[in-house]
Amino acid sequence: MQDIAIIGAGAAGLFCAGLAAARGHSVLLLDHRTKIAEKIRISGGGRCNFTNRHCGPEHFLSANPHFVKSALSGFGPEDFIRHVQRCKIPFHEKKYGQLFCDNSAQDIITMLRGACMKYGVQTAFGTAIKSLQKTADHFEIVCMDKTYNAQKLVVATGGLSIPKTGASPLGYEIARQFGIAVTQTRPALVPLTFSGQMKEFCAELAGLSVDAAVGCGNTAFCEGLLFSHRGITGPSILQISSYWREGMTLSVNLLPHCNAGSYLVAAKQNQPSQNIHKCLSGLLPRRLAQHLCDYHKIGHNAGSHQTGGRLADCTHRALTAFGDEINDWQLLPAGSEGYRTAEVTLGGVDTDALSARDMQAKSVPGLYFIGEVVDVTGHLGGHNFQWAWSSAYAVASHL
Ligand code: FDA
Repeated sequence: MQDIAIIGAGAAGLFCAGLAAARGHSVLLLDHRTKIAEKIRISGGGRCNFTNRHCGPEHFLSANPHFVKSALSGFGPEDFIRHVQRCKIPFHEKKYGQLFCDNSAQDIITMLRGACMKYGVQTAFGTAIKSLQKTADHFEIVCMDKTYNAQKLVVATGGLSIPKTGASPLGYEIARQFGIAVTQTRPALVPLTFSGQMKEFCAELAGLSVDAAVGCGNTAFCEGLLFSHRGITGPSILQISSYWREGMTLSVNLLPHCNAGSYLVAAKQNQPSQNIHKCLSGLLPRRLAQHLCDYHKIGHNAGSHQTGGRLADCTHRALTAFGDEINDWQLLPAGSEGYRTAEVTLGGVDTDALSARDMQAKSVPGLYFIGEVVDVTGHLGGHNFQWAWSSAYAVASHL
């Protein structure tokens, strides 16, 4: 009989196992994959954006926005940074407080696995779980070849994104088995797609990126926007995708620091013979400027499909209207790329059913949920890993 069994050897499970074992508990860590921690390995372009110096409750989406507060204040970014420094892992800050490994994400995996080995965590990787039960005083985890028993059970099975990394719905199924609600799940931090003319527009510009302010409802992010073969991606789009729902339009400002209409009207007064797309190329990449003129048919003679025309040939009104399209382009995505490429899953185990102090299910003593399986989703930039560390610590420090 183990003190604690943890299902899921990803970020949250590995960290929790090492911490709990260091406190003297006997710990069993299970995963259905032999190659564990895959999401850490591929994160941050291979360098793992392991936390964010500015991580706080405002960087999370959850049905209960207050839920994260206790765990974050108990173990925040500075605490994890100390861990990383103690292990002499070199890292750097990219921007907006985002911290990345200098070498590779493997440094974080080695650190987490090292703690598990040092404190004697028992592991069962490549082990499919068939079923689990709770008896009067412990949990029985029935695997293909063996049944494991533990007094406490921590579920750290993550979300549904990138199935080839080992993602599965087991955590949600365990919650439901014990009568714990799961809020609706959907892909988040995910590229958005278009159909028809807009899809063609994006495909023709695939690979081109600009800084853009992208809004949806009351939320907006100003970061990079990247055109792709199927639609749009890049940090500003991944961020807004967590707020976007089918049928909602996005407002895209391609020149967040400039009134495009005023710029074009002033340019017309100064250089009336200048071509419109050339003029716009002073502010935007040339190919994008050209495509925007075509898309909005600015400066086209009736019946002509030639790009642009002279500023002098456009009325002030037409230039102002074109500028408004550049500053507030209303786009209706057809959908998202789904779990295949999403970085995270929005929604999950209902926070109302859990204690914010130690992540324990209120109705099932000894059962805990941590990491992405919980209805807590961070913004892009290291917040999701910080939630994995903070929620894992909340469990381990209250066992
Ligand atoms: P995680 O997914 O890490 O681990 C879950 C574990 O449970 C896996 O090992 C899985 O095999 C196991 N499991 C699942 N089903 C099971 C079953 N049925 N039986 C047994 N085991 C099972 N975040 C961030 O903060 N900074 C970043 O740079 C990035 N970058 C990034 C890039 C990409 C491409 C992706 C997909 C995601 C990110 N993320 C990120 C998000 C981050 O990876 C994610 O939020 C954390 O890994 C979540 O940690 P968990 O431990 O909760 O789940």
